[in-house]
Amino acid sequence: MATQISPSILAAPLAHLAAAAKQIEAAGCEYIHIDVMDGHFVPALTFGDQITAAIQAESSVALDVHLMVARPEVEAPKYYALKPKIITFHYEATTAPIRLAEQIRAQGIRAGIALNPCTPVSALKDIIHAFDLVLFMSIEPGFYGQKFIESSWERLAELKALKEREHAAGRRLEIEVDGGVSDVNCRRLTEGGVDILVSGSYLFKGDMKERVQKLRA
Ligand code: DX5
Ligand code: ZN
Repeated sequence: MATQISPSILAAPLAHLAAAAKQIEAAGCEYIHIDVMDGHFVPALTFGDQITAAIQAESSVALDVHLMVARPEVEAPKYYALKPKIITFHYEATTAPIRLAEQIRAQGIRAGIALNPCTPVSALKDIIHAFDLVLFMSIEPGFYGQKFIESSWERLAELKALKEREHAAGRRLEIEVDGGVSDVNCRRLTEGGVDILVSGSYLFKGDMKERVQKLRA
């Protein structure tokens, strides 16, 4: 399947979210990546469900909600009525990931599990069957504009092997990569098994249409 692009709207001028949503639509992207931060799981505080709803109303692009929150089981349900395409929460933030994934899927929403750079990929082995995708963090969550962590390459190879095992067992699993994605590393990422590229600063700090083309090529 062709590479899908999910621009992180956090990197847009935040007083102009409507314009940013329209820009993402005009650039032909598959998703709008919404970075929900609660000031606990990560230091910053960004959007909640109400601003997410306001962004959604500005375009027809599917939402890809990335919950960087300490209590995903409390926060995730607030997004069900919006029917985003994806809701992702962090492995590090919950002790019952399968239960929440099942709840999300029961809403007809794809369930994603996000993995911080400090969490071994092997931690996913016994829960992966409950998920539609892995949001592989190539930076530590909290801010856009950080540098891609080089040790991610080894971790990604491990995750690709896990994805292939899932496919062999007849389950569909996608890999989404988030953090420091640009034209410099996109090719190696997609060759390494990535299906969805999240990109914030790279896409918003230049001609988005042109840069989306570069990420796809
Ligand atoms: C970080 C967020 C990312 C970030 C990506 O906590 O989850 O989605 O905004 O931005 P760039 O592409 O600039 O690293
Ligand atoms: Zn994100």
